[in-house]
Amino acid sequence: MRAQIAAANWKMNLTLKQGEELLDAIISQPTQLQSHQSAVFAIPFPYLTMAQQKLSGKYQYFVAAQNCHNKKSGAYTGETSVEMLQSLGVNYVVLGHSERREYFLESNQFLAEKLDICLANGMHPIFCCGEPLQIREANTQNEFVAKQLEESLYHLSADEVQKVVIAYEPIWAIGTGKTASSAQAQEMHASIRSSLAGKYGDEVAAKISILYGGSVKAANAVELFAQPDVDGGLVGGASLLADEFVAIIKALK
Ligand code: 13P
Repeated sequence: MRAQIAAANWKMNLTLKQGEELLDAIISQPTQLQSHQSAVFAIPFPYLTMAQQKLSGKYQYFVAAQNCHNKKSGAYTGETSVEMLQSLGVNYVVLGHSERREYFLESNQFLAEKLDICLANGMHPIFCCGEPLQIREANTQNEFVAKQLEESLYHLSADEVQKVVIAYEPIWAIGTGKTASSAQAQEMHASIRSSLAGKYGDEVAAKISILYGGSVKAANAVELFAQPDVDGGLVGGASLLADEFVAIIKALK
C-alpha cells in the first residue's frame, strides 16, 4: 500500500515548553502504526533538536522542518540549509505551503529549486499545492493545481518524483473551519494523480502519496482518509491538541 501519513504543521505556534508538553502528551498514547503508516511533525526550527530527541525511538514518527533554503550554503542571513537540517537528523521538509507562497512570495520556479536541492541530498519533501477561493469559484482548480505541479515538479525524473509527498491544501479551507468535503478532496486528488500519470505513467502515479490539508480534525479525518486517493493529512490547528492529533493518526488507513 502507498505510504499513509498524518503530518502535523505547528506553523509559528507554541513556546519550547508548550511544544515539549504537546509531544509528550502525543507520544504517551499508543497508536500502533504499521510499516506503511507514519506520523510526521513539522516543527519550528528552534525546537527541531528537542523534537528529534523525543521522537527518536518511536516507530514511524518523524520530524520535519517547515521550510529550507534553495542554496547549499553561504551568505543567506536567517536561512536554513538542507545540510543543517540533516546534521540534526531531520529528513523531511514541508515546501511551498500557501502561507510561504503568499507572505514570502515563493513561486513555483523557486520551489522547483528547493525540490532539487532536497532530492539531491536524500531529503523527503512534502510539497504543498492548492487553489485560492476565487479559482474554486471559477471552477478552474484542477488546471490551477496541475500548473503548480508542472512548474515545480515535472522537471524531475520518475525516480525523483516518487520521493515527493504531495499535500493538497485548498487555501479557502486552511484555518477557516471550512473543510473541503470528502468528495471534493477525492476529486482533486484523483485529478492530481491523473496529471502525474499523464507525465510519469500510471505505475509511478500510483506510488505517490497525496495528503489533504485544510481544517482536518478528528471528527472528519476518518471520512477524508477513507477516500481512495487521500493518503492522510497535513494538519494545522488540530495538530496543536494532543488528543485530536492522536485520533487523526489513528484514522490513517
Ligand atoms: P488547518 O488545519 O489549521 O486548517 O491548517 C492546514 C494547514 O495549513 C496545514 O499545513
